[in-house]
Order: sequence, then structure tokens, then C-alpha cells
Amino acid sequence: MSVERSLDGKVAVVTGAGGEIGHGIARELAKGGCDVVVADVDVLESAHNQQGSAEVGGATRATSVVEEIESLGREAMVIKCDVTKADEVGSMVDRTVEAFGSLDVLVNNAGVITVAPVKELEEDAWDAIMDVNAKGVFLCSRAAIPHLRESRGTIVNVASIAGTIGAAGLGHYCASKHAVIGLTKVLALELAPDDVTVNAVCPGIVNTPMWEKALTPTLEEDYADTIERVIPLGRDQTPEDMGRLAVFFATNRNVTGEAVNVDGGITQNVI
Ligand SMILES: NC(=O)c1ccc[n+]([C@@H]2O[C@H](COP(=O)([O-])OP(=O)(O)OC[C@H]3O[C@@H](n4cnc5c(N)ncnc54)[C@H](O)[C@@H]3O)[C@@H](O)[C@H]2O)c1
Repeated sequence: MSVERSLDGKVAVVTGAGGEIGHGIARELAKGGCDVVVADVDVLESAHNQQGSAEVGGATRATSVVEEIESLGREAMVIKCDVTKADEVGSMVDRTVEAFGSLDVLVNNAGVITVAPVKELEEDAWDAIMDVNAKGVFLCSRAAIPHLRESRGTIVNVASIAGTIGAAGLGHYCASKHAVIGLTKVLALELAPDDVTVNAVCPGIVNTPMWEKALTPTLEEDYADTIERVIPLGRDQTPEDMGRLAVFFATNRNVTGEAVNVDGGITQNVI
């Protein structure tokens, strides 16, 4: 059997695809031949959702992602779905299979961030981050598993370098992303007998609303200064970088249980 899993005519779901990284992943999967379901929530009704900013809502932006995928000659559809709600996730998966006939690639990308040191962290802020970033991956994966077993498909989780190292002020976010990597490894083992692979992309710093709204103000320095200070290669990473690694994972049959940093060397730097 070829080690290559062709993406031609395959069906991908990308959660949080109205956001920047999800958009990049959806685009690269479409270039590889996938039809794509662009799944996103409008705006979470939570005060902890990206400082409650309506600008971050993905479902509106998701429409332009669909247009771009269609311009690449593939089919696409927006499905409004809150990954923290099991019923919405279940119906998102059902609608995908009804519309496109299968589900081959699940990309768990939806994510949120807030910043607070653990001693000041509110319980509901912890819950809000864990719900989207960790429980959302569990709910979407669980709902997709029967279809992925049938298609011998793949799951790509978008974790973070915060899933492999610590960062002060991000206890809840780091815990959620470490959970994603743990779940990636367990799912890889549980689904290996069905020839389903499961891996994680770990972005370093990508200039998205997540950095703009939460991290740049917290770090109290310009984004450009953060890049220069933190990244050995001296440049930030892009949604396209994450999309290209997602395509690698989605097309390779013999890589499973891996979490790969795409961070310009941040996680290698100890001094
Ligand atoms: N930007 C970075 O530097 C960076 C670094 C490491 C990891 N990440 C991870 O990459 C992923 C994408 O982040 P981004 O930077 O593109 O952020 P973004 O804010 O541009 O996109 C996140 C998207 O997720 C959606 N979303 C939020 N809650 C949701 C929910 N409950 N259900 C469905 N969709 C929901 C938002 O509407 C938004 O469209 C996240 O998992 C994030 O943790 C980002």
C-alpha cells in the first residue's frame, strides 16, 4: 500500500475555519483536492471569548473562506457550530456526511485564549478555555470517529507550543493545549487498528486576532518587537505554514501520534 493518502475528492471539516489559521489550513487542504466544511461559531456568548470582541466571530468571515475554496475548484460549505456543544457537533458531522458523502479529514482548530496568572484566574475563565480548546477536540473527534474509521481518514489537531512548554499567565491555555497533545497520542493508539492517523500541529506565533487582542497588549510591546525577541529565525509563522503541515499529516499514512512545533526555533531556545 502507498504511504501516500491522496486528498483528491476527500472531505475535510475544519473547525474555527473563520479564523486566520483555520482559513490557511482550509485553503491548503482545498489546494490538495479536498472539499471543505468551514465550521465556526459566530461569537461565543462568554465574556472570556477573546475579550468578547464581535470582530473575532468566524462565521461571517467564513463566507469568504468558502468563496476562496470554490475559486480553487473545490466545494465548500459553512456550518455554524459551537464545538463545546455535543448536539451542534453531532449535527455538524451528520450534515457534512449528508452533503458530501463521507468525512475523511477532521481538523480540530477552533481555539480561544485569555491571559491571567493562576493566582488570579477565575474558575469560569478556566472552564471557558478548557471547554473550547480541550473538550471541543474531544467532542468533535468522538462524533467523527465512526466516519473516519469507514474512510480510514485522519485527525489533525491544532495545539500550540503552549502544549509542549509553559508560559506565565497562560496556565489555563497551556493546560488545555497539553490536553490536546495527550488526547492526540491516545487517539492515535485507539484508532491505529482502523488505519486512522492522528497528529497535532503546534503553531508558534502567527499574527492573528488571538495575538492582536490578547497577547500583544499583555506583553506590553509591539508585535514586531516580540517576534525579534522571541523567535530565533526572526520571523513569525503563517497560516500557510500550519496548512502545509496539516496537509503533510493528512497525506502520510505512517506518521501518527506526533505533535510538531512550527515555531521558528522558539522551543529550542533556553537562553
Ligand atoms: N495565533 C497564534 O499565534 C497561535 C499560536 C498557537 C496556537 N494557536 C491555535 O491556533 C488555533 C487558531 O487560532 P487563530 O490564531 O487562527 O485564532 P482566531 O481567533 O483567528 O481563530 C479562532 C477561530 O475559532 C473560532 N471559535 C472560537 N470558539 C469557538 C467555538 N466554541 N466553536 C467553534 N469555533 C470557535 C473563532 O470564531 C475563530 O474563528 C487555535 O486553536 C489557537 O489556540 C494560535
